[in-house]
Amino acid sequence: MFAEQVGETISYEKILAPVDGFVGAAKAFLAQEGAVGCNVTMPFKLDAFNLAKVDDQAAKDAQAVNTLMNSINGEVLGYNTDGVGLVNDLLNSGVEIEGKRVLLIGAGGAARGVISPLLKAGAASLTIANRTKAKADEVATAASNPKVQVVALEDIASVAPHIIINSTAASLSNELPCSLEDGVLQHCEVVYDMVYKNSPTRFMRDAAELGVKTQIDGLGMLVEQAAEAFYIWTQKRPDTSDIVKRVRVIVEQGEKRN
Ligand code: ATR
Repeated sequence: MFAEQVGETISYEKILAPVDGFVGAAKAFLAQEGAVGCNVTMPFKLDAFNLAKVDDQAAKDAQAVNTLMNSINGEVLGYNTDGVGLVNDLLNSGVEIEGKRVLLIGAGGAARGVISPLLKAGAASLTIANRTKAKADEVATAASNPKVQVVALEDIASVAPHIIINSTAASLSNELPCSLEDGVLQHCEVVYDMVYKNSPTRFMRDAAELGVKTQIDGLGMLVEQAAEAFYIWTQKRPDTSDIVKRVRVIVEQGEKRN
Protein backbone atom coordinates (compact mmCIF):
# COMPACT_ATOMS: atom_id res chain seq x y z
CA MET A 1 0.00 0.00 0.00
CA PHE A 2 2.84 2.41 0.83
CA ALA A 3 4.61 1.67 -2.43
CA GLU A 4 1.42 2.11 -4.41
CA GLN A 5 0.84 5.46 -2.72
CA VAL A 6 4.29 6.90 -3.43
CA GLY A 7 4.62 5.33 -6.89
CA GLU A 8 7.32 2.75 -6.16
CA THR A 9 7.32 -0.79 -7.47
CA ILE A 10 8.47 -3.15 -4.75
CA SER A 11 8.22 -6.75 -3.73
CA TYR A 12 7.46 -7.26 -0.02
CA GLU A 13 7.04 -10.92 0.90
CA LYS A 14 7.01 -13.15 3.95
CA ILE A 15 9.95 -15.43 4.71
CA LEU A 16 9.56 -18.10 7.38
CA ALA A 17 12.97 -18.49 9.05
CA PRO A 18 13.68 -21.60 11.13
CA VAL A 19 13.74 -20.75 14.84
CA ASP A 20 17.44 -21.66 15.05
CA GLY A 21 18.31 -20.33 11.60
CA PHE A 22 17.58 -16.63 11.49
CA VAL A 23 21.07 -15.48 10.55
CA GLY A 24 21.30 -17.84 7.56
CA ALA A 25 17.84 -16.86 6.32
CA ALA A 26 18.47 -13.13 6.70
CA LYS A 27 21.89 -13.27 5.03
CA ALA A 28 20.52 -15.34 2.13
CA PHE A 29 17.75 -12.80 1.58
CA LEU A 30 20.01 -9.76 1.86
CA ALA A 31 22.54 -11.27 -0.57
CA GLN A 32 19.95 -11.41 -3.35
CA GLU A 33 20.25 -8.91 -6.16
CA GLY A 34 17.96 -5.96 -5.56
CA ALA A 35 17.39 -6.75 -1.88
CA VAL A 36 17.00 -3.42 -0.08
CA GLY A 37 16.06 -4.61 3.38
CA CYS A 38 13.52 -6.45 5.48
CA ASN A 39 11.46 -6.30 8.62
CA VAL A 40 12.11 -8.76 11.41
CA THR A 41 9.44 -10.04 13.78
CA MET A 42 9.56 -11.86 17.09
CA PRO A 43 11.38 -13.98 18.11
CA PHE A 44 14.28 -12.74 15.97
CA LYS A 45 14.69 -9.10 17.00
CA LEU A 46 17.66 -9.81 19.27
CA ASP A 47 19.31 -12.00 16.58
CA ALA A 48 18.83 -9.13 14.12
CA PHE A 49 20.40 -6.72 16.61
CA ASN A 50 23.44 -9.01 16.88
CA LEU A 51 23.67 -9.44 13.11
CA ALA A 52 23.50 -5.77 12.14
CA LYS A 53 25.62 -2.68 12.54
CA VAL A 54 23.47 -0.57 14.84
CA ASP A 55 23.77 3.21 15.08
CA ASP A 56 20.08 3.81 15.74
CA GLN A 57 19.65 4.84 19.40
CA ALA A 58 16.20 3.25 19.78
CA ALA A 59 17.58 -0.10 18.59
CA LYS A 60 20.58 0.22 20.89
CA ASP A 61 18.36 0.99 23.86
CA ALA A 62 15.98 -1.82 23.05
CA GLN A 63 18.77 -4.28 22.11
CA ALA A 64 16.32 -5.25 19.39
CA VAL A 65 16.12 -4.62 15.66
CA ASN A 66 12.96 -4.85 13.56
CA THR A 67 14.31 -3.30 10.35
CA LEU A 68 17.39 -4.32 8.37
CA MET A 69 18.85 -2.52 5.40
CA ASN A 70 21.70 -3.22 3.00
CA SER A 71 23.92 -0.15 2.99
CA ILE A 72 25.80 0.99 -0.13
CA ASN A 73 29.11 -0.11 1.34
CA GLY A 74 27.87 -3.63 1.94
CA GLU A 75 27.11 -3.40 5.63
CA VAL A 76 23.80 -4.55 7.08
CA LEU A 77 22.32 -1.71 9.14
CA GLY A 78 19.80 -2.30 11.93
CA TYR A 79 17.01 -0.04 13.22
CA ASN A 80 14.10 -0.28 15.63
CA THR A 81 11.00 1.55 14.43
CA ASP A 82 8.53 0.14 16.99
CA GLY A 83 8.88 3.03 19.43
CA VAL A 84 8.66 5.70 16.75
CA GLY A 85 5.57 3.86 15.51
CA LEU A 86 3.94 4.07 18.93
CA VAL A 87 4.85 7.73 19.43
CA ASN A 88 3.63 8.68 15.93
CA ASP A 89 0.37 6.84 16.48
CA LEU A 90 -0.16 8.62 19.81
CA LEU A 91 0.58 11.99 18.22
CA ASN A 92 -1.67 11.23 15.20
CA SER A 93 -4.42 10.41 17.68
CA GLY A 94 -4.02 13.84 19.26
CA VAL A 95 -2.36 12.59 22.45
CA GLU A 96 0.09 14.95 24.07
CA ILE A 97 3.11 13.10 25.50
CA GLU A 98 5.14 16.10 26.54
CA GLY A 99 5.11 16.58 30.31
CA LYS A 100 2.93 13.52 30.93
CA ARG A 101 3.48 10.69 33.43
CA VAL A 102 3.53 7.45 31.47
CA LEU A 103 2.92 4.05 33.05
CA LEU A 104 4.23 1.17 30.94
CA ILE A 105 2.85 -2.26 31.82
CA GLY A 106 5.10 -5.15 30.80
CA ALA A 107 8.84 -5.61 30.48
CA GLY A 108 9.30 -7.74 27.38
CA GLY A 109 10.74 -6.82 24.00
CA ALA A 110 7.72 -4.69 23.13
CA ALA A 111 8.26 -2.57 26.25
CA ARG A 112 12.00 -2.16 25.73
CA GLY A 113 11.50 -0.79 22.23
CA VAL A 114 9.28 2.10 23.23
CA ILE A 115 11.11 3.55 26.24
CA SER A 116 13.61 5.86 24.58
CA PRO A 117 11.18 7.20 21.92
CA LEU A 118 8.64 8.04 24.64
CA LEU A 119 11.29 9.89 26.62
CA LYS A 120 12.44 11.65 23.48
CA ALA A 121 8.84 12.74 22.91
CA GLY A 122 9.01 14.55 26.24
CA ALA A 123 7.35 12.23 28.77
CA ALA A 124 7.88 13.68 32.26
CA SER A 125 8.39 10.21 33.72
CA LEU A 126 8.15 6.64 32.54
CA THR A 127 7.33 4.05 35.18
CA ILE A 128 7.46 0.34 34.40
CA ALA A 129 5.30 -2.23 36.18
CA ASN A 130 5.44 -5.91 35.37
CA ARG A 131 3.98 -9.15 36.70
CA THR A 132 7.56 -10.31 37.31
CA LYS A 133 9.05 -7.23 38.93
CA ALA A 134 12.66 -8.36 38.52
CA LYS A 135 12.26 -8.05 34.74
CA ALA A 136 11.01 -4.50 35.10
CA ASP A 137 14.05 -3.72 37.28
CA GLU A 138 16.33 -5.16 34.60
CA VAL A 139 14.72 -3.10 31.82
CA ALA A 140 14.87 0.09 33.90
CA THR A 141 18.52 -0.49 34.78
CA ALA A 142 19.33 -0.95 31.09
CA ALA A 143 17.50 2.29 30.25
CA SER A 144 19.69 4.12 32.78
CA ASN A 145 17.70 7.34 32.84
CA PRO A 146 16.45 9.03 36.04
CA LYS A 147 13.02 9.46 34.44
CA VAL A 148 12.63 5.69 34.19
CA GLN A 149 11.37 4.09 37.39
CA VAL A 150 9.83 0.82 38.48
CA VAL A 151 6.78 0.24 40.60
CA ALA A 152 5.14 -2.94 41.86
CA LEU A 153 1.93 -3.82 40.02
CA GLU A 154 0.00 -3.38 43.30
CA ASP A 155 1.31 0.18 43.67
CA ILE A 156 0.60 1.65 40.23
CA ALA A 157 -1.93 4.14 41.64
CA SER A 158 1.01 5.93 43.29
CA VAL A 159 2.26 6.87 39.79
CA ALA A 160 -0.96 8.83 39.07
CA PRO A 161 -0.37 8.18 35.36
CA HIS A 162 -1.77 10.35 32.58
CA ILE A 163 -1.10 7.67 29.97
CA ILE A 164 -1.11 3.89 30.54
CA ILE A 165 0.44 1.69 27.86
CA ASN A 166 -0.18 -2.04 27.88
CA SER A 167 2.75 -3.79 26.20
CA THR A 168 1.84 -7.24 27.53
CA ALA A 169 0.02 -9.99 25.71
CA ALA A 170 -2.69 -10.14 28.41
CA SER A 171 -5.41 -8.81 26.07
CA LEU A 172 -4.97 -11.78 23.74
CA SER A 173 -6.41 -13.99 26.49
CA ASN A 174 -8.99 -11.39 27.51
CA GLU A 175 -7.13 -10.62 30.75
CA LEU A 176 -6.37 -7.26 32.28
CA PRO A 177 -2.63 -6.53 32.59
CA CYS A 178 -3.18 -4.57 35.80
CA SER A 179 -5.92 -3.39 38.09
CA LEU A 180 -7.77 -0.29 36.95
CA GLU A 181 -9.42 0.22 40.33
CA ASP A 182 -8.44 2.07 43.49
CA GLY A 183 -7.56 5.41 41.99
CA VAL A 184 -5.27 4.07 39.25
CA LEU A 185 -7.24 6.01 36.63
CA GLN A 186 -7.77 9.21 38.60
CA HIS A 187 -5.54 11.30 36.31
CA CYS A 188 -5.56 8.97 33.32
CA GLU A 189 -6.42 10.57 29.98
CA VAL A 190 -5.40 7.79 27.61
CA VAL A 191 -5.00 4.02 27.67
CA TYR A 192 -3.07 2.40 24.84
CA ASP A 193 -3.14 -1.33 24.15
CA MET A 194 -0.43 -2.61 21.80
CA VAL A 195 -2.71 -5.54 20.99
CA TYR A 196 -5.31 -5.02 18.29
CA LYS A 197 -8.42 -7.06 17.66
CA ASN A 198 -11.59 -6.49 15.66
CA SER A 199 -13.20 -4.95 18.72
CA PRO A 200 -11.78 -3.02 21.71
CA THR A 201 -9.86 -5.16 24.20
CA ARG A 202 -11.09 -5.70 27.76
CA PHE A 203 -8.40 -3.28 28.99
CA MET A 204 -9.78 -0.59 26.67
CA ARG A 205 -13.43 -1.33 27.46
CA ASP A 206 -12.93 -1.35 31.24
CA ALA A 207 -10.94 1.89 31.10
CA ALA A 208 -13.71 3.52 29.05
CA GLU A 209 -16.34 2.39 31.54
CA LEU A 210 -14.25 3.84 34.34
CA GLY A 211 -14.16 7.21 32.61
CA VAL A 212 -10.90 7.31 30.61
CA LYS A 213 -11.56 9.58 27.66
CA THR A 214 -9.35 7.99 25.02
CA GLN A 215 -8.60 4.32 24.29
CA ILE A 216 -6.33 3.33 21.42
CA ASP A 217 -5.33 -0.11 20.14
CA GLY A 218 -2.06 -1.12 18.49
CA LEU A 219 -3.14 -1.16 14.85
CA GLY A 220 -1.91 2.38 14.25
CA MET A 221 1.43 1.46 15.83
CA LEU A 222 1.71 -1.51 13.46
CA VAL A 223 1.16 0.74 10.45
CA GLU A 224 3.42 3.53 11.76
CA GLN A 225 6.36 1.25 12.53
CA ALA A 226 6.04 -0.12 9.00
CA ALA A 227 5.85 3.41 7.55
CA GLU A 228 9.07 4.32 9.36
CA ALA A 229 10.80 1.23 7.97
CA PHE A 230 9.53 2.10 4.49
CA TYR A 231 11.00 5.58 4.93
CA ILE A 232 14.36 4.12 5.97
CA TRP A 233 14.44 1.99 2.81
CA THR A 234 13.06 4.49 0.29
CA GLN A 235 13.41 7.96 1.86
CA LYS A 236 9.72 8.37 1.03
CA ARG A 237 7.14 8.94 3.76
CA PRO A 238 3.70 7.52 3.09
CA ASP A 239 0.50 9.14 4.34
CA THR A 240 -0.66 6.59 6.90
CA SER A 241 -4.10 7.92 7.86
CA ASP A 242 -6.00 6.28 5.04
CA ILE A 243 -3.89 3.13 5.26
CA VAL A 244 -4.72 2.58 8.96
CA LYS A 245 -8.41 2.57 7.96
CA ARG A 246 -7.80 0.11 5.12
CA VAL A 247 -5.77 -2.21 7.35
CA ARG A 248 -8.50 -2.12 9.99
CA VAL A 249 -11.02 -3.36 7.43
CA ILE A 250 -8.65 -6.20 6.49
CA VAL A 251 -8.19 -7.16 10.17
CA GLU A 252 -11.93 -7.17 10.74
CA GLN A 253 -12.60 -9.29 7.66
CA GLY A 254 -9.76 -11.67 8.62
CA GLU A 255 -11.14 -12.16 12.13
CA LYS A 256 -14.63 -12.82 10.78
CA ARG A 257 -13.23 -15.55 8.53
CA ASN A 258 -11.34 -17.25 11.40
P1 ATR B 1 7.13 -9.20 23.97
O1 ATR B 1 8.54 -9.29 23.53
O2 ATR B 1 6.13 -9.25 22.85
O3 ATR B 1 6.89 -8.05 24.88
P2 ATR B 1 7.57 -11.14 26.04
O4 ATR B 1 9.01 -10.85 26.05
O5 ATR B 1 7.12 -12.57 26.16
O6 ATR B 1 6.84 -10.58 24.74
O7 ATR B 1 6.90 -10.28 27.20
C1 ATR B 1 5.58 -10.42 27.53
C2 ATR B 1 5.28 -9.42 28.65
O8 ATR B 1 3.91 -9.52 28.92
C3 ATR B 1 5.99 -9.72 29.95
O9 ATR B 1 6.21 -8.50 30.61
C4 ATR B 1 4.97 -10.58 30.68
O10 ATR B 1 5.11 -10.56 32.09
P3 ATR B 1 6.17 -11.53 32.83
O11 ATR B 1 7.51 -10.88 32.65
O12 ATR B 1 5.74 -11.57 34.23
O13 ATR B 1 6.07 -12.85 32.12
C5 ATR B 1 3.71 -9.87 30.29
N1 ATR B 1 2.50 -10.69 30.34
C6 ATR B 1 2.15 -11.70 29.52
N2 ATR B 1 0.93 -12.17 29.83
C7 ATR B 1 0.49 -11.43 30.87
C8 ATR B 1 -0.70 -11.41 31.66
N3 ATR B 1 -1.69 -12.27 31.43
N4 ATR B 1 -0.81 -10.50 32.65
C9 ATR B 1 0.18 -9.62 32.89
N5 ATR B 1 1.33 -9.59 32.20
C10 ATR B 1 1.49 -10.48 31.20
